Amino acid sequence: MIFDTHAHYDDEAFDGDRDHLLLSMEEHRIKRIVNVSSDLSSNETTRQLAEKYPFIYAAFGVHPSNTAELTGENFARIHELAGHPKCVAVGEIGLDYYYEEPSRELQKEWFAAQLQLAIQKEKPVIIHSRDAAQDTYDLMKSGHAERCGGVVHCFSYSKEMARLFVKMGFFIGVGGVVTFKNGRVLREVVEDIPLEYIVLETDCPYMAPVPFRGKRNSSLNLPLVVEQIAQIRGMEAEEVEEITWQNALRLYGMQK
Ligand code: NI
Repeated sequence: MIFDTHAHYDDEAFDGDRDHLLLSMEEHRIKRIVNVSSDLSSNETTRQLAEKYPFIYAAFGVHPSNTAELTGENFARIHELAGHPKCVAVGEIGLDYYYEEPSRELQKEWFAAQLQLAIQKEKPVIIHSRDAAQDTYDLMKSGHAERCGGVVHCFSYSKEMARLFVKMGFFIGVGGVVTFKNGRVLREVVEDIPLEYIVLETDCPYMAPVPFRGKRNSSLNLPLVVEQIAQIRGMEAEEVEEITWQNALRLYGMQK
């Protein structure tokens, strides 16, 4: 059974065939999906998806690149959603220094606030971190992220960084990048850290694995990621599937 720990099925890329696609998941062994919010409006569309499909769960929060839209007032709505019966995490939250805006100060402020929300609500966090390894790690340390735990999604740092996050009890999200020609650093991470800390994710519609790189991604492509991990680790794909399934349940504190 496959657990997609990070997807964006509310994205407009799925407007044409969302129902049809989601209803085909089960027959392809995709048994659980966490849909992750990225801005205020996707918090509502994510909620709707989780209410419509039994196998879809929700993460509520605002992506660092969208933190300029947050105010004390609308942040209250995220507090409220974090209490939703299908909410399994706060996310995606973090730091993204790839773009100039929003300012690093603003991103840090909302990362810290959303981390505190997760600790308060006893939910794990889904962390997005790009070109900001040290600041992410420092903020997680000072904010006591080990109290809520979570996943560093679409992991793009070195194995040395991965070890530090794992030491804090965090999972490492692995998706299509592990199949890319330039995915060598992530393959090193997959080879190095304990398999018990790896979870599968698509980040769909983005990050489709080879040979579909650049096309619309979906959870149906996850077997390609499983195969690549199995190859790196010298294991059977079935074993990787089973272990990462268990890991995802542990990450999100779910019963079988
Ligand atoms: Ni994402």
